[in-house]
Amino acid sequence: MFFDPFLPLRGGNGLEGVHRPGHGIGGNLGSRTYTPRRIGRRRSQIDIAVLASGSGTNLQALIEAPEVRPHIRVVVSDRPEAPALGRARAAGIETAVVPWSDHPDRASFSVALADLVEEAGAKGVVLAGFMRVLSADFVERFSGRILNIHPSLLPAFPGARAVEGAIGHGVKVTGVTVHFVEEAVDTGPIVAQRAVEVLPDDTVDTLHRRIQVEEHRLYPRVVAAFVTGALTLEGRRVVWS
Ligand code: GRF
Repeated sequence: MFFDPFLPLRGGNGLEGVHRPGHGIGGNLGSRTYTPRRIGRRRSQIDIAVLASGSGTNLQALIEAPEVRPHIRVVVSDRPEAPALGRARAAGIETAVVPWSDHPDRASFSVALADLVEEAGAKGVVLAGFMRVLSADFVERFSGRILNIHPSLLPAFPGARAVEGAIGHGVKVTGVTVHFVEEAVDTGPIVAQRAVEVLPDDTVDTLHRRIQVEEHRLYPRVVAAFVTGALTLEGRRVVWS
């Protein structure tokens, strides 16, 4: 149940679509032909901007990951009071705020954000509890270079109330998904997932706390692979090298 995407899998375990280090991943692509799209050149490193709106516990996990920390150029928030900004400052990382209320619409907000990310020298974008939907132009500008973490096993329970959704539906297992971002919300190619059991007496808070324990383990490992150019997109498949 508690699948670790960073351990090699034995064949035939039904976990298609998950990581098999050094072997790409399983999954039926039918007869479509895909052109592999590498994130940067093979194994070339990229720096990132981390976007966060809230408490920033995932940001903290990234800051504490030695393979990730040197690649964080800037932490950006849409909320000046976001505790995530304090975490970045305490770590000596540049911060910036792009207030949502300063912009007439999503398109203009997203252009300001994208310009700031590029000016900071970041080639990749890592969303860590960023509560704004990015414009189609933003996603196109950083195509294949935006990661998000979501507190459910996508495609189940997309959207802002994923933990409430899992409890309300009565599922016995939920979890964490790290995925590339495309224009539609929470639908992009899945990079890695972790399962979390839902206990009979769980509240949204208790379940979210256990989900976050898994998030803080998983995200640094995925982002470490991302910044070292070890992730490749082949259609919807994410291949690790
Ligand atoms: C996390 O649960 C993440 O899955 C979701 O937003 C939450 C952010 O938490 N996208 P934090 O700000 O990192 O503590």
